[in-house]
Amino acid sequence: MQICRTVADLRNATAQFRKDGENIALVPTMGFLHDGHMALVAQANALAERSVATIFVNPSQFGETADLDAYPRNEARDFAMLEAAGVDVVFVPDVIEVYPEGDETIVETTGLANVLHGLVRPGHFRGVTTVVARLFNFCQPDFAVFGEKDYQQLQVIKRMTRDLGFPIEIVGVTTERETDGLAMSSRNVRLTPEDRVAALVLSQSLTAAETAAKNGATVEDIAAVLKSTITAEPRATLRGLDVVDASSLAPISGVLTSPVAIMLSAEFGGVLLLDQRVINP
Ligand code: PAF
Repeated sequence: MQICRTVADLRNATAQFRKDGENIALVPTMGFLHDGHMALVAQANALAERSVATIFVNPSQFGETADLDAYPRNEARDFAMLEAAGVDVVFVPDVIEVYPEGDETIVETTGLANVLHGLVRPGHFRGVTTVVARLFNFCQPDFAVFGEKDYQQLQVIKRMTRDLGFPIEIVGVTTERETDGLAMSSRNVRLTPEDRVAALVLSQSLTAAETAAKNGATVEDIAAVLKSTITAEPRATLRGLDVVDASSLAPISGVLTSPVAIMLSAEFGGVLLLDQRVINP
């Protein structure tokens, strides 16, 4: 596995792949990898002859520097996991490589970024699209793989890719879970043992919502089931609860006639966790 720390090194590596007629799948990450990321890597390896992973804790998508500073990092372990999974190149740039001095260009989806989780975390999706657009330009992959857990992020990236005409297929991968149902996240290690147990309320509320939907519940009923389940857990502070059209993220109401996306965010002892599920009528 080749380790590239500069854009120039990454370009050399990917240019060689293209010269050899090989296509490339990109897996952007912020490191501290877990099985959820490894599912993305496996998908990338299945899609293309060459896989490139990136590890970059992107400052522009964090609202508070405290959250950025607290973001867990373990480069040596990440490298070992990527190498074992057969990744060809890992790109680990410094901030200055991605945001050169005097940098002033942003990329923003003006609608999708500013609803739902975007309202809870202003500027977050602008930071994501700005960095992902740059990574796309640096690597020029044929495919890019993202988790469905960050459901709004996936929709935002798909929209940006289409709008800017990147010739890249965006591939979403279903959420990997711990055996007890907790969605895998690099943030899970920051939970206290009590909050780790309490956080199960997110996946439990999604299961309750799915059962309600199967029994003919409306969008309003589903939202009520989610809210009452999560607020019954005293350690949870609900931050976002949305039941929206699965592709446009537009608000919906009444009986389910097309796929809906449930998107949840809640804090447990100051650690913000996300979960999501798409429910078909
Ligand atoms: O999902 C993530 O880890 C990040 O938001 C991403 C896509 C790597 C951009 O920094």
